[in-house]
Amino acid sequence: MNTTFKTVSSSHITISELMLPSHTNFSGKIHGGYILSLMDQIAFACASKFCGNYCVTASVDTVNFLMPIEVGELVSMKASVNYVGRTSMIVGIRVEAENIQTGVIKHCNSSYFTMVSKDNEGKTSLVPGLILTSLKEVTRFQNCLRQIEMKKAKEDQKNVATFSSIDSILNSKKYNIKVELH
Ligand SMILES: CC(C)(COP(=O)(O)OP(=O)(O)OC[C@H]1O[C@@H](n2cnc3c(N)ncnc32)[C@H](O)[C@@H]1OP(=O)(O)O)[C@@H](O)C(=O)NCCC(=O)NCCS
Repeated sequence: MNTTFKTVSSSHITISELMLPSHTNFSGKIHGGYILSLMDQIAFACASKFCGNYCVTASVDTVNFLMPIEVGELVSMKASVNYVGRTSMIVGIRVEAENIQTGVIKHCNSSYFTMVSKDNEGKTSLVPGLILTSLKEVTRFQNCLRQIEMKKAKEDQKNVATFSSIDSILNSKKYNIKVELH
């Protein structure tokens, strides 16, 4: 059992990077995959620093790209551990992009990565408890609990898909599909 407790603030990590033309997609905006890769790196750093072990990414919550990111903008990512379970942690990440000439900052996305602590033998290992020191931190923790419950409910729903519901998809004209089963 891990009897250590650590504050949310001890997990805080920020990275900033100027966006280069080499990271653009065909429409000249920064590639979403590049941003996802940076987010995975900061989640890894944040969770590993918090638990004192190297972590793996277990899952990534929905990432909505709210605004495109342009070449030359300064992207900053802030991460913190918002929730801990036994061996897992949920890291919240906020991504902002700043136009360095005008100083205008836009919120580009927020997402949640579930990271699992692994020991040197590659086995999952217990993480420290979380000390919540403000109402904001309590609310974030509560939101994670809600997300975990919603995810569980969604998984349970998936398991009750019946033949009749598959049938209704095959026979429905409302989807943009053509069924050609072999
Ligand atoms: C994630 C992984 C460690 C889970 O291993 P496991 O044997 O299923 O371990 P457990 O069932 O004991 O789960 C460990 C923890 O991970 C959590 N977890 C496992 N899968 C999860 C998922 N898909 N989403 C969220 N949390 C998950 C469990 O809830 C548990 O949390 P807790 O200990 O805080 O209660 C394992 O599946 C793995 O190593 N996956 C590959 C990770 C990886 O390589 N990532 C990079 C992708 S290239």
